[in-house]
Amino acid sequence: MDKIVIKGGQALHGEVQVSGAKNAALPILASALLADGTSTYRNVPDLADVATMLKVLRTMGCDTERDGDTTDVCRIGVNGHITPEAPYDLVKTMRASVVVLGPLVARFGRARVSMPGGCAIGARPIDQHLKGLKALGAEIHLTEGYVEATAKQLKGGTVNFDVITVTGTENVMMAAVLAKGRTVMENCAREPEVEELAKVLNKMGARIEGAGTSIITIEGVDGLKPVEHAILPDRIEAGTLLVAAAISGGNVLVKRVVPEHLDAVVEKLRETGCTITAEAGGLRCQAPQRLEAVNITTTEYPGFPTDMQAQLMALMSVSQGTSVISENIFENRFMHVPELDRLGADISIQGHTAVVKGVKGLSGAPVMATDLRASASLILAGLRAEGRTDVSRVYHLDRGYERLESKLRGLGADIRREKA
Ligand code: EPU
Repeated sequence: MDKIVIKGGQALHGEVQVSGAKNAALPILASALLADGTSTYRNVPDLADVATMLKVLRTMGCDTERDGDTTDVCRIGVNGHITPEAPYDLVKTMRASVVVLGPLVARFGRARVSMPGGCAIGARPIDQHLKGLKALGAEIHLTEGYVEATAKQLKGGTVNFDVITVTGTENVMMAAVLAKGRTVMENCAREPEVEELAKVLNKMGARIEGAGTSIITIEGVDGLKPVEHAILPDRIEAGTLLVAAAISGGNVLVKRVVPEHLDAVVEKLRETGCTITAEAGGLRCQAPQRLEAVNITTTEYPGFPTDMQAQLMALMSVSQGTSVISENIFENRFMHVPELDRLGADISIQGHTAVVKGVKGLSGAPVMATDLRASASLILAGLRAEGRTDVSRVYHLDRGYERLESKLRGLGADIRREKA
């Protein structure tokens, strides 16, 4: 098992390029199931989660291919017989595999997908995905840990989500594109990744309006065609790199970003005293002399993203003053707190709120990653800590960051990967 070893204290400088967005790539790859033929995707990040999604698709009978030296190109062929099933072994390693449910039932009239179960950051039920599919006429049975959804022909309907859900919105949207008639989805997630998926589906011939707002309207069509598409840049990776500049006292241009996708993060970084400027195709972050504490409340997009909470907490741990961080999306997303405290941070948890008292400095120590964004926060803290920080269990990191350590090394960080 690999670990990341960091010797802290280097201010980061230079330019770095963001990879394609994990949370857009995963549903988009699943959407290939909606058409016969081969779809081609560019800017697909080389991540463990993407590999898992490709494996899920191969298990069903799709052909998948990554181009040799240009690994950001990925092709998915739906040419022969598809077994509409996602087994427990794969879904348990990546709950986002559940996004095959919508396309499978819409296209093949049947889907059998393992229930994802809880994960490190919360219980994460899928009741809203199922509610939406039922509203389109799917019959749902839960047996032996699997969701079985069947429908001869889905029919348009009205879906009002009780909870705003990103993959739930995506799943139901992918089902509705092939349903007969009109579907209106209310209280939808407005994340850029939802909008990106709708863009891809529309290129395939779907008729979706309103993606990116809370009401999405879909006119069902009889069939879709394969697509060629380049995936948008990862706003969470971009945000993580901006924080790397800030926490290290550096000055970094983060290239290939969509600045408006980062508005909430940029606003908070500016409040901490960072100077953030838009430059051609990127955002530059210049760290201040003194980081000010800011309060953070995670909410759905366009609010401050839960996927940046752990990274901002690392930054707040070395700021001037006390910061209150409220996590409103997942009930158990503070697993990084005891690990940050091991590095000398002063953070206490009260329910879904963390109180971070800024300290003068952190000191390196061995720490353990507990989930994807927690691992990023520990690496960020390690960049700032005096001495050596070993972050173990980096398989969490590899699920969602493409070669983060080499990108940071390119900016001057003393960081390497070692076999633990
Ligand atoms: N929820 C329900 N019922 C449902 C669905 C969700 O109660 O049927 C609850 C969840 O338990 C949670 C809240 O609604 O409390 C929001 O969950 P959501 O469904 O939006 O999360 P998700 O779709 O499972 C995606 C991202 C996550 C990101 C969240 C929130 C993907 C593949 N994953 O998850 O990304 O944190 O939205 O923005 O898109 C990550 O990249 O590190 C990550 C965890």
